[in-house]
Amino acid sequence: MSYEKAVEAARFIKSKYEKEIKVALVLGSGLGAFADEVENAVKIPYEDIPHFARSTVEGHAGQLILGEVEGVSVAVQQGRFHYYEGYDIQQVIFPIRSLGVLGVKSLILTNAAGSVDTDFKQGTLMLIRDHINLIGVNPLRGKNDEQFGERFPDMTEVYSLEYQDVAITAAKQMALEKAKVDEERTGKKQELHRILRRGVYCGLPGPSYETPAEIRMLRLLGVDAVGMSTVPEAITARQMSIKVLGISCITNMAAGITEEPIHHEEVMETGAKVAATLKELLRRIIPKLN
Ligand code: HPA
Repeated sequence: MSYEKAVEAARFIKSKYEKEIKVALVLGSGLGAFADEVENAVKIPYEDIPHFARSTVEGHAGQLILGEVEGVSVAVQQGRFHYYEGYDIQQVIFPIRSLGVLGVKSLILTNAAGSVDTDFKQGTLMLIRDHINLIGVNPLRGKNDEQFGERFPDMTEVYSLEYQDVAITAAKQMALEKAKVDEERTGKKQELHRILRRGVYCGLPGPSYETPAEIRMLRLLGVDAVGMSTVPEAITARQMSIKVLGISCITNMAAGITEEPIHHEEVMETGAKVAATLKELLRRIIPKLN
């Protein structure tokens, strides 16, 4: 979609919320609860925003929420457009482009993901170190408008190392504080609980989950978690020089890692269970992103 369309969407958003937005967030499946953290919230249904598509999948409310978290102006995408829903990839990434045109410099992408790494558990939060794009499409395909960025953008550091440090520091602090509270409560020395792990996310087209053979293949390729989003948005943001932080919520073990079949309901439920930890982590991270 053209630069002009992104400008129209950005202008519309600006007309509803005048403050300069510092950080944009995309909330993944089951992770929509963070939207409640936004103060002085202005909520705009996607269908009201020029050129935005509509969200269809269960668990995605489909609105943009503008307001403040810890005094920082944010734009929260509650619900995203997935390629598997049948949208054109241009529609999938249009919100990111609109927010980029609006001047957003930092983007936090969250998602639900299946674990390929056997060390992770249901409910583990994984900081995305890097990604592999197997969605089958690149959002920058087609005529390039230099106003978005260059034709061949570098992808050496999609997920900002600086932001990864911010997230790890925040997670460590949280773990220390929790251990201290538990120690005071129980009178016993507590082991530090790791709040954040790190790994490689692989974006797949979906909507069917993977086969065990596919998961074995992906493991050999160095994948830690699999999902059906995030990668197109991250690529789009990097073309616009927006710094990206990615967090996956491990909602299930990937196919064949355990004998259990995977259900969408399980994905949604696990998301809801880790919501409180994720909320707290994001609250600590957001004011530190520059
Ligand atoms: N595979 C792909 N996408 C997912 C999964 C999975 O196991 N869990 C949540 N999103």
